[in-house]
Amino acid sequence: MTDATTIVRDHPLWHPFSDMGTVGTEKLVLDRGEGIWVYDTQDRRYMDATASLWCANVGHGRREISQAVAAQLDQLDTFNIFGDYANQPALDVAARLAALSPMDDTKVFLGSGGGDMLDTAAKIARAHFAQRGQPQRTHLISRSLGYHGTHGLGTSLAGIEANGAGWGRLVPDVSVVARDDARALEDEILRVGPDRVAAFFCEPVIGAGGVHHPVDGYIEAVADVCQRYGVLFVADCVICGFGRLGTWFGIDRWPVEPDMIAVAKGITGGTMPLGALLVSGHVAAPFFTGEPGAPVLRHGQTYAGHPACCAAAMATMDILEREELIGRGEGLEQALANALRPLAENPMVGEVRAGLGLMAGVDLASHVVESTPGAVAILQRRCREAGILVRPLIRGIAVSPPLTITPDEIVELGALIAEGFARLEPLVARNAASR
Ligand SMILES: Cc1ncc(COP(=O)(O)O)c(C=O)c1O
Repeated sequence: MTDATTIVRDHPLWHPFSDMGTVGTEKLVLDRGEGIWVYDTQDRRYMDATASLWCANVGHGRREISQAVAAQLDQLDTFNIFGDYANQPALDVAARLAALSPMDDTKVFLGSGGGDMLDTAAKIARAHFAQRGQPQRTHLISRSLGYHGTHGLGTSLAGIEANGAGWGRLVPDVSVVARDDARALEDEILRVGPDRVAAFFCEPVIGAGGVHHPVDGYIEAVADVCQRYGVLFVADCVICGFGRLGTWFGIDRWPVEPDMIAVAKGITGGTMPLGALLVSGHVAAPFFTGEPGAPVLRHGQTYAGHPACCAAAMATMDILEREELIGRGEGLEQALANALRPLAENPMVGEVRAGLGLMAGVDLASHVVESTPGAVAILQRRCREAGILVRPLIRGIAVSPPLTITPDEIVELGALIAEGFARLEPLVARNAASR
């Protein structure tokens, strides 16, 4: 099979995170999806081992979701939830998330995606302390290689250096610490001054930064550090939630209680743009005194609580519950690790990281990255030719198929990626020979 890249000359569509020199003229135009498969405009089939940027946890082509959205658009197509306006799907989603939340007295702030929720979390952390009489408590800390979206605050929190660079001066009072070192977090809090630090942002399993699992005990240790210094622990579960790690939120795989949890993506199976920030009652308290004239959080997006997006979330959560998909993120993690393990024997492979949740990273060996310019993009292309879509990362690829994938299909996934590597091999060999 070869892939069906369409040649599109001088098209004005500007693609996110993309080399427009290449994709400006060549695009893979996808047309439809069903289950773990997507099809291009020439009806070629690809296994979606990305769940489209870690979103389609329930698989593609779920009529139940599209029908719920259509019905909602017919009934109330749009209305904001500013002030005292509400709509039933927004109320339902907030109540459902609060009931599932591992935090006490959870309040739910809605937005249009992950980045919205990370910026919301940063602002709520600072606003919380301002209301508690500690306005100097503004400093935010994140983990190296973490990804927290592309808005202003999220970009400032970037642990992937390239994402934070080149924009001029962004948000001050932000720092990044080594991702697996709880001591580094504590040292940074002490360096800045505990009375100046508002929050620590933690992706439990780092996704876009390469699929890196936390070392044993790390999550518990950083939660403990945060608690000791009164620093709010913000769990960025935009990727890890909705079953990806085998639990509703991802962070609930560990025995810790965060102060805020950001989710998006899998909440609607990627079908509609929605993010949610779960906020522990004690953090939200200054804004929920019940007194007229209580402080107002002057923040929120037009589409927060959009009825059609919330209807999609309700339908998605129904599917996740009814088909018992949440636990599959953990139930299938060993199958995925087993399917990818043979790749570790391949001399073109540097490392395979799998075994925690239905997500994995496969790094290219250093000699491949050094000898073959654009090696990751070429590997992605070779995998596509083999019939599988994978996510290119900094040094390799990520896989995160829908939770509906079967064990047999996971074996097929491993074989298709192995074929992608086999297709890369002649180029790598040629480059090595010419050095
Ligand atoms: C961990 C994490 N946080 C935040 C975001 C940003 O989400 P969005 O792209 O919906 O703004 C992402 C996106 O991939 C993510 O992986």
